[in-house]
Amino acid sequence: MEDYSLIYDEINRLKEEKNAVILAHNYQLPEVQDAADFTADSLALSQMAAKTEADIIVFCGVHFMAETASIISPRKKVLLPDLGAGCSLADTIDAGQLREWKREHPGAVVVSYVNTTAEVKAESDYCCTSSNAVKVVSAVPEDKEILFLPDMFLGAYAAKVTGRKIHIWPGECHVHAGIKTEDLKDMKHSHPGAELIVHPECGCTTNLLYQGLNGGKANGNGHIKFLSTGGMIKFARDSEAKEFIIATETGMLHRLRKDNPDKTFYPAKENAVCKYMKMITLEKVLRSLREEIYEVKVPEHIAVRAKRSIDRMLEITA
Ligand code: 13P
Ligand code: SF4
Repeated sequence: MEDYSLIYDEINRLKEEKNAVILAHNYQLPEVQDAADFTADSLALSQMAAKTEADIIVFCGVHFMAETASIISPRKKVLLPDLGAGCSLADTIDAGQLREWKREHPGAVVVSYVNTTAEVKAESDYCCTSSNAVKVVSAVPEDKEILFLPDMFLGAYAAKVTGRKIHIWPGECHVHAGIKTEDLKDMKHSHPGAELIVHPECGCTTNLLYQGLNGGKANGNGHIKFLSTGGMIKFARDSEAKEFIIATETGMLHRLRKDNPDKTFYPAKENAVCKYMKMITLEKVLRSLREEIYEVKVPEHIAVRAKRSIDRMLEITA
């Protein structure tokens, strides 16, 4: 195992000198997660960005997450250690496409997953994350049409759980979409006693919801848990089970293993790796803090409108 102690020492010194905080998403490299003050899912990271007293936030995640932090905390300096860290899901819809979609459904309420650009959030009524999509959709008045974007698997999940009829944008995350029912079947065959935990962005979600793992009855899937990355951490901690199959980006396993040394975690798919998340290396985190690069700042006229959709979400999930 590589020794990162000198880099950690320097990061800690700079953090104190500059009153900075390091926030990391659960998919970050293990050594980056270990340097963070707070590692969490998208919702908890937004809440943290809202309440931190730090002057600088080094955001170890992808661009839309740093934008969200900047929208919530416009007076703080938000740094993303590598501007190339994008998101293939957020790239599936831009503000112009959303405006066009809204024109086709006048009066509809727009619920946007947090994996969207600030401009798309500015065109949205509500923001949501994987941990609160169901709550947010349920909060929309029954008589309103809903446009859900951009993840079709999360949208289908929210529609199934709430029983609402939702128009869903056909976007997907290439990493999660690649996790198929067959992958889970193979893993379950090898580890029959393991609990199955699935992120609702996964390509297998719809199939599992309606068919279960073995093509059985629609509701024969009670043993499968659909959870955000933060929900996975809580569930694994509280569960009596000793083995778990985790269907999401593999960075998740570091935190699960660290928190639960007496339990075993298997990735549903070994190569479910987000190349964007992995662009943030520890060396780049140090450079980011030292040189205060790369600042992510959302223009005020967009930030003000985008913030409304985030605030509505935070009010619902407070
Ligand atoms: P959560 O951490 O909110 O579950 O999000 C998963 C994700 O894919 C972020 O890009
Ligand atoms: Fe985007 Fe998928 Fe990477 Fe998450 S895992 S940041 S949704 S590309």
